[in-house]
Amino acid sequence: MKIIAIDGSPHSEQGNTALLLEQFIAGALEAGAFVERVSAGTLHAETCCGKMVCWYRTPGVCIHRDDVTGLVDRMALADVWVLSTPVHLGGMTQQMVRVMERTVRLLSPCFEIHDSRTRHVASRHTVEKAVVLISTCGYYEEIAFDPLVSQVKDLSRSHHRRFAGALLRPHGLALRFMQANGLDVRGVLDAARQAGSELVKNGTMNERTLQSVGQPLVSQEEFVWMMNSAFERRMGCQADRTPGCSQEVM
Ligand SMILES: Cc1cc2nc3c(=O)[nH]c(=O)nc-3n(C[C@H](O)[C@H](O)[C@H](O)COP(=O)(O)O)c2cc1C
Repeated sequence: MKIIAIDGSPHSEQGNTALLLEQFIAGALEAGAFVERVSAGTLHAETCCGKMVCWYRTPGVCIHRDDVTGLVDRMALADVWVLSTPVHLGGMTQQMVRVMERTVRLLSPCFEIHDSRTRHVASRHTVEKAVVLISTCGYYEEIAFDPLVSQVKDLSRSHHRRFAGALLRPHGLALRFMQANGLDVRGVLDAARQAGSELVKNGTMNERTLQSVGQPLVSQEEFVWMMNSAFERRMGCQADRTPGCSQEVM
C-alpha cells in the first residue's frame, strides 16, 4: 500500500497534529506500507489560478511548475491520501488548501450523477483508493471538526476515493502542553499508531480505535483552567482579554 501523508500544519513537525501523524505513520510502516510524508508549508506551492487550463487547453497538466506538480502526480498513484491538518477557521489550513486545489487537474470537467449528487466523472485509477483525515483543534469539543470533516468527505467523493475515517483530537492544542507537563497522553498516541496499522492491514480503522484518539483527557472545566493559566503566564494581565483581569486600558 502506498500512502502519501500531507502535513498541512504551519508548525509542521513541531505541531500538535504532527504528534498524531507521526504515530499513524509509524503504525502504517510497521504494517508494511510505503509512506511518503510531505510538509505542505515547506513546498514551493503556487495557488490555483482557477482558469481550468488543466481541463481544456492542456488536459491533466497544470500551468504551474513547482513542488506541487510532482506531488499531485504521486498523489494520483497513491492508494491512500492522509490529510493531516489542524482546524483553521473551521476548515483546513491554507497550506493544505493550496495543495488540494491543485488536485483539480486529476478530475474530468464532465459531470455524472452519483447518489443524487453531481460529481465529476471518475477516473478508473481511483477505484478502491482512500482518504484519511487527521486533525487537532483548539476548542474542547469535537463539534469543532464538523465543517472540516464535511469538506474532506466531500473532496473524497469528488475524487471517487473512499473516506476511510478520521483521527480527530479535540483540545489538541493542549496535547503537547499536557505531554510536557507529565500528563499521560499515551492512550491517544497508541490509538493513532493502531489506526495506521489497522488501515494497512484491514483497509479500515476500528471505530473504537478512532474514539480512543478523541477520548477526553481532562474535563471541560479543567481544560479551561489549565489553558487560561498557561495563557496568563505568557500574556500577563490584559484588560478585556484575560478573564478576571480588570486592569484599565491606558
Ligand atoms: C489561524 C488559526 C485558526 C484557528 N481556528 C480554529 C478553529 O476554528 N477552531 C478550533 O477549534 N481551533 C482553531 N485553531 C486552533 C488550532 O486548530 C489548534 O491549536 C491546533 O492544535 C494547532 O495544530 P498544529 O500545532 O498542528 O498547528 C486555529 C489556530 C489558528 C492559528
